[in-house]
Amino acid sequence: MSVCLSTAAICFVYGAFSLEIMNQMSSTNDNAPLIDPFGRVHTSFRISVTDRCNLRCFYCMPEEKVRFRPRNEILSYEEIERFVRIVSRQGIRKVRISGGEPLVRTDLWRLVERLSSIKPIKEVALTTNGMLLSQQAQKLKDAGLSRLNISLDTLNEDTFRKIARRDGLDLVLDGIAAAERVGFENIKLNALSIRGLAENEIVPLAEFARKRELELRFIEFMPLDAGGQWQTDDVLSGGEVRKILEAALGPLVPLPRGDASLPAVEYRFASGGGKIGFINSVTEPFCDQCNRLRLTAEGKIRNCLFSKEEWDVRQFLRHEDCSPEAVDVQVMDRVQAAVGQKKAGHGIGTAEFTPPQRSMHQIGG
Ligand code: 5AD
Ligand code: SF4
Repeated sequence: MSVCLSTAAICFVYGAFSLEIMNQMSSTNDNAPLIDPFGRVHTSFRISVTDRCNLRCFYCMPEEKVRFRPRNEILSYEEIERFVRIVSRQGIRKVRISGGEPLVRTDLWRLVERLSSIKPIKEVALTTNGMLLSQQAQKLKDAGLSRLNISLDTLNEDTFRKIARRDGLDLVLDGIAAAERVGFENIKLNALSIRGLAENEIVPLAEFARKRELELRFIEFMPLDAGGQWQTDDVLSGGEVRKILEAALGPLVPLPRGDASLPAVEYRFASGGGKIGFINSVTEPFCDQCNRLRLTAEGKIRNCLFSKEEWDVRQFLRHEDCSPEAVDVQVMDRVQAAVGQKKAGHGIGTAEFTPPQRSMHQIGG
C-alpha cells in the first residue's frame, strides 16, 4: 500500500469498525461547506485537465524543452468526475476547465458531459486558446458546456507569433466564429495587459469585440511566466488600458456589479454597446472576495494561484482497495485542509512575495 497512513488505516479497519470510524470522520468533514479562516465560502473549482498546449505563450510557458507530466500522472475523466461529485457535496457549484490547453485532451466534450450531469453543479465553463475550437464547438455545446472564455491578445499575426511563438491566429478566429455559430452566449475574450506589447492591440480588440457583441476582458500580467522574468513595470494596469480605450472610443460607464466574487469589473461604452471587463489582479487585488480553489492536472489542490503548498488527492482517487466512502472522506478532508490554510491574499508587491515554482500552464489558468 503506497498511500498515506491515514487512508491505509481507514482501509485496514474497513469492515468490523468501519462504520464507527466513518461516522466520526463524517461528523468532522462530511458535507461541510468550504469556509476559510477569513470567512470566504468556496463554491468554485478550476480544474486543469492537462499541462500540455499547442501554443507557447511567453507569459505562461517556456519556449522549448518543456517538461510535461507523463500521461499516467494526469487524472482521467473518471477520476475528475469522481472528484467533482465529492466536492459538489461540499458546496462546489461551478467548475471551470482549464489547462495548459484543455482541448488538446482527447474528446474533452466527454468530460463536459460527465460534469454537467452532476446535479448540484450549476455551471461548467471552459477557458481555451481557441485553436481547436472550430472542430469541437458543437460537441461541447451539445455536451452541456455553459460558458466559454477564449484567449485573444492580438488581431495581428506578427504579434500573435511573438506572444505565442507559433502561428495560429486564423484558427483562433475560426474558433471564435464557430463558438458564436453553435449558439454559445456570453462568450468572453481574454487579453493579457503587458506593457510594451498590449498598447497597440487594445483598441482593435475592443472594436472587434464590440462589433461581434462579445465581452472583452483585460487581465493584468501576473508573475506566472516560466522564465521568472515578470517585473512590476511589465504590468499594464487596467487603469492605463481604460485611458487608452476612452481616448480612442469615448467614455466607459460602469455596469452594476452582480456577483461580487467574479474578478472582472465591467463597463460599457457611453456611446452604446461593447462590454469591457478589467481583471486588475495586480493593481487592485480582489482576493477578499475569492471563492475559488484549483485542481492541477495531476490531482493536487491549490488554494490560490500563488499558493506554496499543494494537497494531493490522486492517491485517494486511485486507491482501489478502499471503500468508496473512505475515499470520499479522504478527499473531502484534503479539500478542507487546503481551505483551512488559505491566506488572506496573494501578496504580490509585498516584500515577502515570491512567485510560485510552477508557471501558469502547470497550475491552470
Ligand atoms: N498572467 C495573467 N494571466 C495569465 N494567463 C496565462 N498566463 C498568465 C499570466 N502570467 C491567462 C491567460 C489565458 C489563461 C489561460 O490564463 O489569460 O487566457
Ligand atoms: Fe497555451 Fe494558454 Fe499558456 Fe498560451 S496561455 S501557452 S495558449 S496554456
